[in-house]
Amino acid sequence: MPEDFSSEVLLTKTPKRSPIVLRMIVLAFATLFGVYICFICLKQIRVRVDSKYILLFPNISNVEKCQLSGTLGKENFHLHFPNPKTYSRGECICNPVRFFAILSMQRSGSGWFETLLNSHLNVSSNGEIFSVKERRSNISAVLSTLDKVYNLDWYSSAAKNECSAAVGFKWMLNQGVMKYHNEIVDYFNRRGVSAIFLFRKNLLRRMISILANTYDQDTKQLNGTHRSHVHSKTEAKVLARYKPTINVTLLLPELKRTEEMAINALEYFNSTRHITLFYEDLVNNHTKPIDVQEFLGVPIRKLESHQVKIHTRPLPKQIANWVDVYNTLMGTKYDHFVKAG
Ligand SMILES: *[C@@H]1O[C@H](CO)[C@@H](O)[C@H](O)[C@H]1NC(C)=O
Ligand SMILES: *[C@@H]1O[C@H](CO)[C@@H](O)[C@H](O)[C@H]1NC(C)=O
Ligand SMILES: *[C@@H]1O[C@H](CO)[C@@H](O)[C@H](O)[C@H]1NC(C)=O
Ligand SMILES: *[C@@H]1O[C@H](CO)[C@@H](O)[C@H](O)[C@H]1NC(C)=O
Ligand SMILES: *[C@@H]1O[C@H](CO)[C@@H](O)[C@H](O)[C@H]1NC(C)=O
Ligand SMILES: *[C@@H]1O[C@H](CO)[C@@H](O)[C@H](O)[C@H]1NC(C)=O
Ligand SMILES: *[C@@H]1O[C@H](CO)[C@@H](O)[C@H](O)[C@H]1NC(C)=O
Repeated sequence: MPEDFSSEVLLTKTPKRSPIVLRMIVLAFATLFGVYICFICLKQIRVRVDSKYILLFPNISNVEKCQLSGTLGKENFHLHFPNPKTYSRGECICNPVRFFAILSMQRSGSGWFETLLNSHLNVSSNGEIFSVKERRSNISAVLSTLDKVYNLDWYSSAAKNECSAAVGFKWMLNQGVMKYHNEIVDYFNRRGVSAIFLFRKNLLRRMISILANTYDQDTKQLNGTHRSHVHSKTEAKVLARYKPTINVTLLLPELKRTEEMAINALEYFNSTRHITLFYEDLVNNHTKPIDVQEFLGVPIRKLESHQVKIHTRPLPKQIANWVDVYNTLMGTKYDHFVKAG
């Protein structure tokens, strides 16, 4: 009987209690929601206050400021908040910046690759800055140049300054990279600089490009101006008319030297964060430019370059002493350079 009674009480009480419970739940949700909204508002206000604060106190490091303002999530070694000496990053002060360097060799597509990267709204690749000898005459000159670039204080036509999300430049291996590799690797690891290796698979085609470029330096085929890169098919055709003769005595040692330099560079920089790209893959495989942007941590965009490839014809039509070159390379480990045609 008592059992029945209690169950009856429960049964009769439940329908009465349920609207109250429901109301309580609704009230609780409303309160929570209100608190949440307030929290969001406060957070936004705090960010705004802090950006003023940032301008008022240039003393505190940008990392601290941006952590304060709450726009920065977990601290990431590869994210930087540079504080340029020459201007303010304005609205983008708390946008993180990644540091990179394109490590490559002459005539390996790095000029084209750089225009591709620079077509991105948030990427600044500042060109071949170490082509100027004084900047690489000793390690302290090298490091202070790097500091200037990564502090977003470097001026070039490619610099996007305030809203750069990735900043770097292209660096040829024969411009101090190999010579000072220990110090440079230390610097890259200390400051979180990522290396983008860009090589060309077909080193014979690279050699043709070098010889043709050297020839044009002397002859200035395009209306008396030397051009390393062109933007129209007509110009490309003019430059491609020249067919170099390759010294077959030097051919194998030269290919070997180039290959070894690339291998050594990869070994030296193995401890750095890096990606290795080949020009041929970048041209033929449309997912490669996406890989690069992911590596740099920038928003993915369609990248474009207006440069036009100069040497597009089959190899036999580009080398004056083709038969000699062919015979020299056949049977060596480089014969795939000629077999591809
Ligand atoms: C900036 O920092 C330096 C050293 O940390 C200190 O001596 C100086 O007073 C600070 N300046 C301002 C404006 O806070
Ligand atoms: C390094 O090179 C720079 C630029 O060429 C020069 O001004 C500076 O005196 C050199 N420093 C040392 C330590 O040799
Ligand atoms: C990219 O640049 C645009 C315009 O300059 C800026 O609004 C945006 O915040 C930048 N994006 C990143 C990820 O820095
Ligand atoms: C040389 O210049 C003329 C006139 O400025 C132009 O029409 C022509 O296309 C140029 N030729 C080359 C090869 O650039
Ligand atoms: C090829 O290079 C070697 C070594 O520099 C040189 O002795 C030779 O004359 C060159 N041959 C030609 C055809 O230029
Ligand atoms: C880089 O280091 C890793 C492990 O430390 C090794 O497996 C790899 O072969 C190295 N690569 C080069 C190019 O030295
Ligand atoms: C293109 O590159 C991606 C990686 O970036 C690779 O997975 C894919 O196999 C490549 N495609 C071709 C056709 O080589």
